[in-house]
Amino acid sequence: MAFPINTEEAKAGQLPLPSPLDRPRGGRVGSAVEWNNIRRPEILDDFTRLMYGALPPRPESVRFELRRELSGALGGIAKRREVRIHLANDGKTHFVDVLWYLPLHAEKPVPAIAGLNFPGNHAVSTEPDVYPTETSRLTQPAERGAGASRWPFSELIRNGFSVITANRGDLFPDRADGRAESVWKLFRTPEELTPEQRDCTAISAWAFGCILLLELLESEPLIDRKRIWLHGHSRLGKTALWAAANDPRFAGVVSNDSGCCGAALSRRNFGEHISYITETFPWWFRKVLDSYAGREAELPFDQHFLISLIAPRPVLVASATEDLWADPRGEFLAAKAAGEVYRLFGAAGLGEEAEFPPPDRPLYGDGVGYYLRTGKHDVTLADWQFVLQFIEKSTNCSN
Ligand code: GCU
Repeated sequence: MAFPINTEEAKAGQLPLPSPLDRPRGGRVGSAVEWNNIRRPEILDDFTRLMYGALPPRPESVRFELRRELSGALGGIAKRREVRIHLANDGKTHFVDVLWYLPLHAEKPVPAIAGLNFPGNHAVSTEPDVYPTETSRLTQPAERGAGASRWPFSELIRNGFSVITANRGDLFPDRADGRAESVWKLFRTPEELTPEQRDCTAISAWAFGCILLLELLESEPLIDRKRIWLHGHSRLGKTALWAAANDPRFAGVVSNDSGCCGAALSRRNFGEHISYITETFPWWFRKVLDSYAGREAELPFDQHFLISLIAPRPVLVASATEDLWADPRGEFLAAKAAGEVYRLFGAAGLGEEAEFPPPDRPLYGDGVGYYLRTGKHDVTLADWQFVLQFIEKSTNCSN
């Protein structure tokens, strides 16, 4: 790696941040209409070209197969559905396996939380008979229940939410040669899907998977389609921000410990940087991003632009005290700086006076929230409690 990693605040640097409202060739947008019509598409295009690449196109056919439904799941409080999403394009096929819990006795449409998981569907549930994610798609085969602490399904069901998840490997196995087996194979030849060909990225394939989950939720009348939230941790937090930037149907987003190329500012010299991430995970990004290693200030955006693309929908940025790699302060500063765009829509964001908060003292803001949880890089019950409070507050504001 060409550049050292810094975790001392005194050496983080004080680079001026660009404003998302400034046009590249001069001028500035000053209203929500101008933002939506002029500036937002430019920024979306910049992120597509320079960082994440385009999302996969729509396949010719998308079909939902209900493989199993149980009505007494999670000790009798939920309905469990296991759905296989069949995709077909140009004579080729691909599938994605979904694990989905719904409250058993919902009287009116319920809100939902969607998100991809790391270890496999069978590993995020404590139920011993969940259909396992195909081993060939897993980065490290995980035992049943091994990742369940990050997915407190019962708790979320008791709070009135439906929860839906699929494994990232079903969209793009998370390794340099995963592209050939990814959803991109529906649209490209094998020669176009080598590790060297980096237009078809993992992050955009994963974002596409988030959108499939959303569309499956939308097919169910018991789901309130105006309240479908997207959650993502770490690389999947980067993905969640990118998915919601692309698809306005997500009601809001939670980015948990998403760090470099997620919610954290690239212009700060703190924690992971573009040099490290592009050398270690080249399949996540387009190749052109490599050339910005050490030249972060020359990017036409910083990560607060990504958060801004989601405005005026609510975004919660979550960090953890021991997760210096993801640069908690850089995540806070990006969340705060995105407020400039939220204000065009009449929402205050975190507010211009907001200060980096002490641990476990969430700032729920207006449209943009931020908190710093005590502990490691993880998703814990404490995180979910903050998430539920933020969703409740955001929902009450917009009603
Ligand atoms: C690595 C990587 C991060 C990423 C994280 C994760 O630490 O450097 O960018 O967010 O993995 O996804 O857990």
